[in-house]
Order: sequence, then structure tokens, then C-alpha cells
Amino acid sequence: VSAVNNKKNGKDYRGTIFLEDATVVSQVEFPGEQYILTIDAPKCALNATPGSFAHLRCHTEIPMRRPLSIMRANPATGHVEFLYKIVGEGLRSLGQLHAGDTLSIMGPIGQGFVPSAERPRKLMVGGGVGIPPMLFLAEHLAVNNNADNALVLMGSEVPFPFELVTSGIAVNGVPDNASKSIADIEALGIAARLASLQDYSGVYSGYVTQLAEDWLQSMDETERSQVDMFACGPEAMLEAAAKVASKFNVHCQLSLEEFMACAVGGCAGCTVPVHLDDGLAMKRVCVDGPVFAASTIYPDS
Ligand SMILES: Cc1cc2nc3c(=O)[nH]c(=O)nc-3n(C[C@H](O)[C@H](O)[C@H](O)COP(=O)(O)OP(=O)(O)OC[C@H]3O[C@@H](n4cnc5c(N)ncnc54)[C@H](O)[C@@H]3O)c2cc1C
Ligand code: FES
Repeated sequence: VSAVNNKKNGKDYRGTIFLEDATVVSQVEFPGEQYILTIDAPKCALNATPGSFAHLRCHTEIPMRRPLSIMRANPATGHVEFLYKIVGEGLRSLGQLHAGDTLSIMGPIGQGFVPSAERPRKLMVGGGVGIPPMLFLAEHLAVNNNADNALVLMGSEVPFPFELVTSGIAVNGVPDNASKSIADIEALGIAARLASLQDYSGVYSGYVTQLAEDWLQSMDETERSQVDMFACGPEAMLEAAAKVASKFNVHCQLSLEEFMACAVGGCAGCTVPVHLDDGLAMKRVCVDGPVFAASTIYPDS
């Protein structure tokens, strides 16, 4: 077991990253080279929070681990779930693992999303492989009874790797024909809508951030001041999300992706410029993030 100390809000706290030999519980392939991997990793499951990630050794002959967001973590069963889409040789190797195989993981890592009690209308926007942390956050808010008035928006250009249902929960500002939702989220009583450019039936035709804009546009000033927005996805989507948040003066947190070597704060290979009140600082996405305030990443939005 290894641990790192971090600082957050000026205070010391002990952020613990565990090294575990996890057992694969299941691995399911979906269209578009997408996989949902479930592993048994009890320490990671117990300590994961929405927005945190794990660093996985995909193959014994690939020395560099690959970072994946945690999509679900169940402290009772010890199971941790990931959703990933194959990019290159690391994730391709991961996709070849079967139930019963062992893989080494480090996690949970990073500073996740911090929902605000003062802004009860949660807006979660996930694009592509940015969907997993949004699902984790939505389920976490529901379990803690903080999901009233929440909306989850998900965008994908390959078929959504989830069971879809026609939603019975009305959402203002969204066209009636964009009626599909994710079954697991609908079952929690949380509104969700989907977006794509692929003309999928029941799915909003456009970018997921346009859908967010339509929803915010349909609100009055008081409602908008209560919105707490979270986004994860490709860089262009994050920039668009920051612009939408800025346009409506909504507080927004973004989860960033960067190339990562160590993922525990030691190599500084993942630093990004962050615009703080007292000037520009270089921050490590792995342990200072991956979640940052949108205004500190895109100050000119
Ligand atoms: C915090 C975080 C969370 C992530 N969560 C997810 C997720 O939930 N699902 C998912 O599918 N993907 C996620 N990614 C992206 C995923 O880590 C990369 O797509 C993956 O590392 C690519 O590895 P590869 O071997 O398949 O591809 P290659 O292109 O062969 O990888 C080569 C090298 O580039 C690095 N690399 C390539 N693309 C990225 C990238 N976008 N970010 C960081 N490193 C990269 C790899 O780590 C490796 O060192 C996340 C990335 C980060 C930083
Ligand atoms: S990956 Fe090494 S410091 Fe972040």
C-alpha cells in the first residue's frame, strides 16, 4: 500500500492511493470498441469518489499504466467499474482480459468533483469517454438525496453502451423528440438526455453542450443562480462547456485529461496552466486535479 500527502484548500489531508492486484469480474464489449470492465479492488472501491481515477497496468509487457475514470465503486462488493474506448495498444490489451484474470491497479487518484450545497440544481455533462465520472457523480448525488432537479446530459458519436429507455421525467428546454434516457439513471429518478450527431432515434441531434445551453436558456435568473455544473469529455467539449457556463454565469467544474506517466504527482508530466486569483500556476492533472474550476482553465470564456 502506498500513500501520498496532498494539500487542498490550504489544509493538509491524507489522500490515499492503493496499489492492488485486482481480479477481473467481467468485461463486456459494446459497439464502437467500447468496453465496460468490472474488477474486484476493495480498497479502491472503498475510497473512490466521483471524478477520481485509477492507473491500470494493461499488460505485463506494457510498462506504462493507463489512467481511466472510475464509473462506479461499490464499497459493499469491492467492485469498481470502468468504461473505455480503445485508442491504442494499452487499452487494446486491457480489452483482452477475461473474468478471473488479474491486473495491477493504483487508485483511487485525484481530486474529484465538489458539489456545492448552495447550488442545488446539478447539471452533469459527459462526452464520449467523459461519461463515466458523470454517471458516478449522478449515482452518488442520488444516494445522498442531493439529486432533486438534477440533469445528466451525455453525448456520444458511437452507440451508448447502456440500456436506454424513453424518459418519463420532463425536462424544460429540450425538444420532445429527444426523449431517450439511461435506464439506470431514470430508475434513480434523475432526468437524463442524450445527444449525438449520428441521428440516433430519441437522441438530441447536436452537441451535448448545445443541449446544456438550451436547458439553461429555458430558466429564469434565480433558477440559473442555483445551477452547479460539471463536465468531462474531449477538450473541445470542455471548452464549449466553459463558454456555456460563463455565458450564463454558472459555476462549473471540469475534469481534464492529460498524458500521464506516474499519476502520483512525481514526474510533473501532466502539468497544465491554471489561472488562479494570485496568478498563473502550473498544476498536475493527476493529483491537483483532474477536476478544476472551469474559470481557472478557460479564463477568457
Ligand atoms: C484522468 C483521466 C481519466 C480518463 N478516463 C478515461 C475513461 O474513463 N475512459 C477512456 O476510454 N479513456 C479515459 N482516459 C483516456 C485514456 O487514459 C487514454 O485514452 C489511454 O491512456 C490511451 O492509451 P492507449 O494505450 O490505448 O493508447 P496510446 O495512444 O497507444 O497510448 C500511448 C500513450 O499515450 C498516453 N495517452 C494517449 N491518449 C491519452 C489521453 N487522452 N490521456 C492521457 N494519456 C493518453 C497513454 O497513457 C500512453 O502513455 C482518461 C485519461 C485521464 C488522464
Ligand atoms: S503524471 Fe506524473 S505528476 Fe502527474
